[in-house]
Amino acid sequence: MSLKETLEQLKTDALSKIEATQTLDSLNEIRVQVLGKKGSITEVLRGMKDLSPEMRPVIGGFANEVRDTLTTELETKKEVLEEAALNAALEKETIDVSLPGQELNIGTSHILTQVMEEIEDVFLGLGYEIIEGYEIEQDHYNFERMNIPKDHPARDMQDSFYINDEILLRTHTSPIQARTMEKHDFSKGSLRMISPGKVFRRDSDDATHSHQFHQIEGLVVAEGITMGDLKGTLEVLLKKLFGEDREIRLRPSYFPFTEPSVEVDISCFKCGGKGCNVCKQTGWIEILGAGIIHPRVLEMSGIDSTKYSGFAFGLGPDRVAMLKYGVNDIRYFYQNDLRFLEQFRVKG
Ligand code: PHE
Repeated sequence: MSLKETLEQLKTDALSKIEATQTLDSLNEIRVQVLGKKGSITEVLRGMKDLSPEMRPVIGGFANEVRDTLTTELETKKEVLEEAALNAALEKETIDVSLPGQELNIGTSHILTQVMEEIEDVFLGLGYEIIEGYEIEQDHYNFERMNIPKDHPARDMQDSFYINDEILLRTHTSPIQARTMEKHDFSKGSLRMISPGKVFRRDSDDATHSHQFHQIEGLVVAEGITMGDLKGTLEVLLKKLFGEDREIRLRPSYFPFTEPSVEVDISCFKCGGKGCNVCKQTGWIEILGAGIIHPRVLEMSGIDSTKYSGFAFGLGPDRVAMLKYGVNDIRYFYQNDLRFLEQFRVKG
């Protein structure tokens, strides 16, 4: 047989083997046998050295054609077999509906959100409106309308982040008092609102201070509001938050926008008043600031202070959450460490 005939033969044999094969493994064997380094085409080409110089390129060219044809055929067959294998696998696959599903990692509301919502619920139940204020506030509302003029020393208690001379990050939620009072239409009834939100002070951050924390402002204005209304309202709230046997006490204090002003304490929920580490051995825990709205604050908002009176309070939900859940560092609330937050997952 001439070299050309041998190559023809080799091609015919290989094509029929490729055609006949049914597995990827045996297809690969054919590829190695025919096209591999020690394969039959290489073998045939070894005989080229005995050819005349004119015949060499002819046979060489023919050998390349054979190699190309076989390579293409091998590839095509490989695709056919791979697809068949995939279809067979898919056909066999069944869905086992009894297998447990993949659990999605669903988030939960932050512990501070939970505490704030608990407080909001109490006030919604008492007929209060929830009103949102601005985190970026005017000096006018944050201080002046709260009876804290520019040179007033009370500004020092609330060292502030100013954006310019007149605009700052609010240092408390009290500016919402002025904003709500100046808009309220008393012909439609009394004013009862709470306003939860973030406040900002240039405090050094430590276990009990953070440059950002939360407050819930409360405000009631109507005819004949007294300190008794304030005390009764806060008693409802604090018993709900810390237990029905809590007692509350009011201590004289000072805020420029309330007169008289009070600090409100609850009897210690841990020791019941005997004295322990939570209440620093006093039996009482300070929980919020409050008071009867200063007549000048009412007047500045266009309310007749001879006809109307009101009370206001400012409550810190961060502090409530720390006390309620025994959290000893306020910064945990803001670090977003899941190991901390996961402990307060709302049970679904
Ligand atoms: N705004 C006061 C503070 O941040 C709290 C307060 C609010 C006191 C309302 C009395 C009445 O310190």
